[in-house]
Amino acid sequence: MGQDAAERTLVILKPDAVQRQLVGRILARFEAKGLKVVGLKMCRLTKQLAKTQYAAHKGEYFYEALLRFMTAGPVVVTVLEGKAAVEVVRGMMGPTFGPDAPAGTIRGDFGLSKRFNLLHGSDSQAAARKEIGLFFRPEELLDYELHGFPWIYDTSTGEVI
Ligand code: RTP
Ligand code: MG
Repeated sequence: MGQDAAERTLVILKPDAVQRQLVGRILARFEAKGLKVVGLKMCRLTKQLAKTQYAAHKGEYFYEALLRFMTAGPVVVTVLEGKAAVEVVRGMMGPTFGPDAPAGTIRGDFGLSKRFNLLHGSDSQAAARKEIGLFFRPEELLDYELHGFPWIYDTSTGEVI
């Protein structure tokens, strides 16, 4: 049974998530949901990479603060795969800032700041493709069978449901 009915999204666990030692707890939520980790690395964003990643926000009043935040320390970057992964991950993250995010979402459960907000998730499939290409070479994305897959989805009819 193929496991490739899936969509991919890029998640960045931002410098505050690393410094607050929340990486394991946040990744655990995505794993527990059933999303498949196909890429994972720790790195530090250069200013140039942060600018490219957040080019859409150039000119916003918070842009410089955002670049400072994103380059202030190491991040953990992961590519997650699953049906509707982009939308599922955005839902799990919650609204942009912790004080506004409902309990049960990652930002709602772990964040209080209107600037530091723990993680990024791609907001469309097109953005995901672009962002994955910024952070990962094709050979860094691993193609493997997830043993639990037939229990995460119903694959009994040949479809992934
Ligand atoms: P992200 O892109 O990081 O996943 O977050 P998002 O979609 O929820 O929020 P977005 O509107 O795309 O904003 C990108 C990041 O910019 C910072 N920001 N600061 N008013 C502010 O000070 C402000 N607004 C946005 C946040 O770090 C946000 O995640
Ligand atoms: Mg965004």
